[in-house]
Amino acid sequence: MAGNKTFTMIKPDAVSAGNTGAITKMIEEAGFRIVAIKKTQLSPEKAGEFYAVHKARPFYKDLCSYMSSGAIIPMILEKDNAVEDFRKLIGATDPTKAADGTIRKLFAKSIEANAIHGSDSDENAAIEGSFFFSNTERF
Ligand code: CMP
Repeated sequence: MAGNKTFTMIKPDAVSAGNTGAITKMIEEAGFRIVAIKKTQLSPEKAGEFYAVHKARPFYKDLCSYMSSGAIIPMILEKDNAVEDFRKLIGATDPTKAADGTIRKLFAKSIEANAIHGSDSDENAAIEGSFFFSNTERF
């Protein structure tokens, strides 16, 4: 059965452009409850750890320096069918392919600086959420 939690982070391009409020408003209006939220910045090493699954990809090094270039807003979100519904809300990785009305279509600058991350499975949502947060059960 699909789980009810997912993990997201607003990426440095969207935070520095002042789009945090507009994006969290879209997330809440789509029916997601924010269980945990903070503002932080990754070191290149920590970004590399988070994206370790992409280590062999040609874009890995650039991705790690980009993701550590400024503040990010990680969040744990709750809703029925959270992972799938959230990926619909953010749209395709490449903003030129993202559907109208999606967060990436509205706010992403490029395939790398694509405004927001969304976990791709319940298992990864749990792993990625615990990368940034602990003791969130009571919320
Ligand atoms: P995200 O959903 O956070 O997962 C992996 C990230 O790698 C992705 O968003 C993009 O930021 C980045 N990415 C994926 N594909 C490419 C690509 N072809 N070129 C550059 N960056 C990419």
